[in-house]
Parts: sequence; C-alpha cells; structure tokens
Amino acid sequence: MQLDLLHCLQARYGQAFEWPDELNAGQCEALARIADHSSHRAWADQPVSDALLRVLAACALSAPSKSFLQQADLIRVQRADLREKFNHLIPSMPWIADAPEFWVVCANGRRLRHLFAREGKDFVNEHLDSFFNASIDAGLVLMNFIRAAEEAGLVCCPISVIRDQASLVSSWLALPAHVIPLAGLCMGYPLAKRNLLPRLGLEASVHLDRFDDRHIDQQLAEFDQRWMQAQSISGKLQSAWTKDKQKQYSEAQRADWGAFVREQGFSTD
Ligand SMILES: Cc1cc2nc3c(=O)[nH]c(=O)nc-3n(C[C@H](O)[C@H](O)[C@H](O)COP(=O)(O)O)c2cc1C
Repeated sequence: MQLDLLHCLQARYGQAFEWPDELNAGQCEALARIADHSSHRAWADQPVSDALLRVLAACALSAPSKSFLQQADLIRVQRADLREKFNHLIPSMPWIADAPEFWVVCANGRRLRHLFAREGKDFVNEHLDSFFNASIDAGLVLMNFIRAAEEAGLVCCPISVIRDQASLVSSWLALPAHVIPLAGLCMGYPLAKRNLLPRLGLEASVHLDRFDDRHIDQQLAEFDQRWMQAQSISGKLQSAWTKDKQKQYSEAQRADWGAFVREQGFSTD
C-alpha cells in the first residue's frame, strides 16, 4: 500500500515524494484513498441503499461548521417527476440523468435568522461574511459527502451548473429565503476506474511563510506539459490547460448569481 500512495501522488503531481516513516499501513491506505480521488460521470447499474445513504448523509454533516452554526443542508432528489426536471436541466451533462442518486447541497442561513425572528429580534449580521459562512459550511459538507461516498465504494460528480438556473432549481426544491443551492451531487457505483487528473505542482500552490507566485509562468508551463501528456495517454484531444481555462472563462458565466443571492435575502455588502 505504501507504493500505491506514493505512485498516486507521483501520478498526480509528476514528482517523487519521500516516504514519511511515521505512517502506519492503515494511515497509508486512508491517504491513498484520498489521493486516488476522481470525479466520475458513468455509473454501474446498481442502486444505493437507503440505509447507506442515511449513513453517508450523517457522515457528510459531521463536517466542521463555522461557529458551530450548522448552516448546510442536503436534499435528496427522489420523486420521479422532480428527478426528471433535473435530468433535463443540463442536456450537455447526461451523467446527471444516468446517476442512480442525485442530491443538492444547500447553504442554509435560515435557521440562524430564525433564532432571532421567533423572538422578534433584529438580525444584525446581514452582510457578506454571513453569506460566506453558510457557503463554506455547505462546501465542507459537499466535500465530506464525497469523501464518505468514496470510502463506501461509491463515486461522485459535483454539479455546480445547477446554479446557472438557480431560481428555477430553488422553486423546484421550495427553497425559502436565505437558503441557496451550492451544488448538485451525482452518486453511484463506478462503471470503470478513471485515470487521475494531474494537479498543479506543489510549488505553485503550497507556500512557505509568504505568498509567492514569482514563477507562475514556469509553473503553468510545467503543468500544461503534464496535462497534455495525461490527455494523450487517455486518448483525448490535446490542448493546454491554460488555453482551455482561458477559453472556458472568456465568456461571462453565471453573472446573475449575485442578484440571485440577494433575492434570496443575503447581503453581499
Ligand atoms: C464545486 C464543484 C462543482 C463542479 N461542478 C461540475 C459540473 O457542473 N459538472 C461536472 O461534470 N463536473 C463538475 N465538477 C467536477 C470537476 O470538473 C472536477 O472535480 C475537476 O475536473 C477535477 O477532476 P477530478 O475531481 O476527477 O480530480 C465540479 C467540482 C466541484 C468541486
């Protein structure tokens, strides 16, 4: 298992890692499973049991929570007609319709405000930090849900494009003020193993004592090279990551998100 972890990291980062002697076999296996993460977009024809989903939701919601405010909720989309709506929402992503399970992770600032409203008190923290805290809680729960699912042998694909139609999705899910959809989550058993996607070298994103991106262009060029190699190994069209991402973000995306968040009652000031 020691080799698996180091191989995984080598594949991900294109550099060798020294073996940390303090790791025991169990710890090594746990880290290898984290390092081996992949988003999946194809699923085995096998349902996920209600009992397992309940355990996974409980694990997901065990994530840390800002000021212990517990501002994240999970919605399982199960009713057939509702699921149909999500299945057709983004035709370019058929893996949503194919997924045995589809959940929506929400940031919920409503409970906190309710503590004040039920006593007729003003909520004096209606500002951007409040929105941010609920969103971070939801992001942590999303990650914990994915981790828990992967530990149980499932695979996942988060779906943030549901936010392209945030008002519609919110009306389908009856989301009240101060509750917003952070992301959908497809889940199921894997159809096949996926190749790991590389990540930027650690030099690009791990800093010591101060932020330093003086070598950003060199680091991006190094990553582009590994990315193209990974693509050619998996038989995909070769294009540089830097070009891809520039192209993807050369058109405005979800520019109405701020307006939606404000409509839901959060302040962005
Ligand atoms: C918040 C978030 C939203 C995402 N939204 C989508 C999405 O809408 N559709 C999709 O196919 N993948 C989505 N992904 C998956 C990413 O594309 C994926 O994590 C990334 O390409 C890296 O691949 P990996 O997870 O296999 O390492 C999302 C991931 C995150 C973290």
